[in-house]
Amino acid sequence: MTKVNQNFLKLPGSYLFSEVARRISAYSAANPQAKIIKLSIGDVTRPLVPAVIEAMHKAVDEMGAEETFRGYGPEQGYDFLRDAIAEHDYKARGVDIAPDEIFVSDGAKSDCGNIGDIFGVDNVVAVCDPVYPVYVDTNAMAGRAGDYQEELGRWNKLVYMPCVEANGFSPEIPKEKADIIYLCFPNNPTGAVATRDQLKEWVDYANKNGSVILYDSAYKAFITEEDVPHTIYEIEGARTCAIEFRSYSKTAGFTGNRCAYTVVPKDLERDGAKINALWNRRQCTKFNGVPYVVQRGAAAIYTPEGKRQTQDVIDYYHANTKVIMDGLSKAGLSASGGVNAPYIWLKTPDNMGSWDFFDLLLDKANVACTPGAGFGPSGEGYVRLTAFGGAEATKEAVERIVKML
Ligand code: MLT
Repeated sequence: MTKVNQNFLKLPGSYLFSEVARRISAYSAANPQAKIIKLSIGDVTRPLVPAVIEAMHKAVDEMGAEETFRGYGPEQGYDFLRDAIAEHDYKARGVDIAPDEIFVSDGAKSDCGNIGDIFGVDNVVAVCDPVYPVYVDTNAMAGRAGDYQEELGRWNKLVYMPCVEANGFSPEIPKEKADIIYLCFPNNPTGAVATRDQLKEWVDYANKNGSVILYDSAYKAFITEEDVPHTIYEIEGARTCAIEFRSYSKTAGFTGNRCAYTVVPKDLERDGAKINALWNRRQCTKFNGVPYVVQRGAAAIYTPEGKRQTQDVIDYYHANTKVIMDGLSKAGLSASGGVNAPYIWLKTPDNMGSWDFFDLLLDKANVACTPGAGFGPSGEGYVRLTAFGGAEATKEAVERIVKML
């Protein structure tokens, strides 16, 4: 009989955002008059900017003419996009990343999950707690997480690094030796950022122990404070220990368009292998590249108009963050994040459980959030709000929350 991957059977319930969506739909079906405002999944609401649309239209026309039509593209991405990334996202910040260290993909979520293909099952994996659930679930699927302990809400083989109020939501180097370390800054879900010194400690740790840092900087476009590092490669030594994930989803409204990239430096070697070569091998075998039209759209955000227009959109979301933070603070609630991230990490009033507060907010204010406990045990007692809604809807959601409380 066909055997299934037993690790899938160990996964608890459903994927966090699917569960949130299911509960919202169930509530909606039972209360059809309710006008629900979703500040739950971090999905953008602003349309693609004109520079992107124009580039994509042009690319569609090219695909419709025999002389300019393109079939399979390079699995790693077209040179025009890899060159633009190296130039604008790295060189402009004083960081040397070569185009052939950049792998264009259909999403940071896919890459964060797929990267596990090239690492052994017996590596010890360390994750922040709370954490973007993709890191945990994909390691569980691969058999690196062990067994799920329902009562504790955690996997017995993963190393959890609590990110709590007491440590400024910043993970500390674990006592256990970790081989693979997931870091995400600006952080999803807490919105916290890491300083240069903090990142330097991680880089030194990883180089000393032969570990690999998987650095998710999908939200770097939301950094507003001067000295916050935008990329881990701003930290000396990162080229020999870190892989970086980036995405156009939140930067340029590509959640429905699908385009991202992963940087694997050629200096990164582990277990006698060049990690760049392994990832290239994996991508060539399992991935056929991002559509040409989409990559043209992504490249357009590096033009002067594209940069200006996407920054306007980021500013729009930042204005929402301010509305949310101001409203919550007026209501006497404690919240953090928001300044360098599109996420606000709200402490539930009266130590209410995350899912209880989620239900209360949905029922009494018709506002949907994401329960902190869904991101890990240390997220209990918090919920995450996103700034990706429309400005009017966000204002109204905050008014409703304040009124409810
Ligand atoms: C989130 O809400 O955390 C994100 O939208 C999920 C994602 O980027 O996959």
